[in-house]
Amino acid sequence: MTETILVLNGPNLNLLGTREPEIYGADTLDDIAARLEERARELDLEIDMRQSNHEGHLITWMHEAQGSDVKAILLNAGALTHTSIALYDAIKGIKVPVIEVHLSNPLAREEFRHQSFVGRAARGTVSGFGALSYMLALEAAARL
Ligand code: DQA
Repeated sequence: MTETILVLNGPNLNLLGTREPEIYGADTLDDIAARLEERARELDLEIDMRQSNHEGHLITWMHEAQGSDVKAILLNAGALTHTSIALYDAIKGIKVPVIEVHLSNPLAREEFRHQSFVGRAARGTVSGFGALSYMLALEAAARL
């Protein structure tokens, strides 16, 4: 059975492409998904890319990954990264490894982005490389 990499995107990431392109780049989420799928095929993996502006959807999707064919989760939780203890608990509560992903480098930005509840629970973090952050996280996920 082909294993799946679940790629979860949180609030405002549906706006990628037009949202502050000087920070997040010009690629849309669909552009990123297409590139991930191309690389995943070479790695004999499947990509399941999702986005929600609602915290509860992200949590439910993480729970559902447990006991499925999901090998790892790439999680860009957007601003929930910096606020959500519920996401921290969800990551801690499942056995599927979670890799934190960010387009920008939150540590090089405003003080309020320096806290990451996701990063405290995640297996590792890739940030600061724009859309390439997702690709690098996929490479890591494939090797777990
Ligand atoms: C982000 C960084 C977060 O601080 C911000 O709230 C986002 C995007 C990133 O990918 O760089 O929405 O997760």
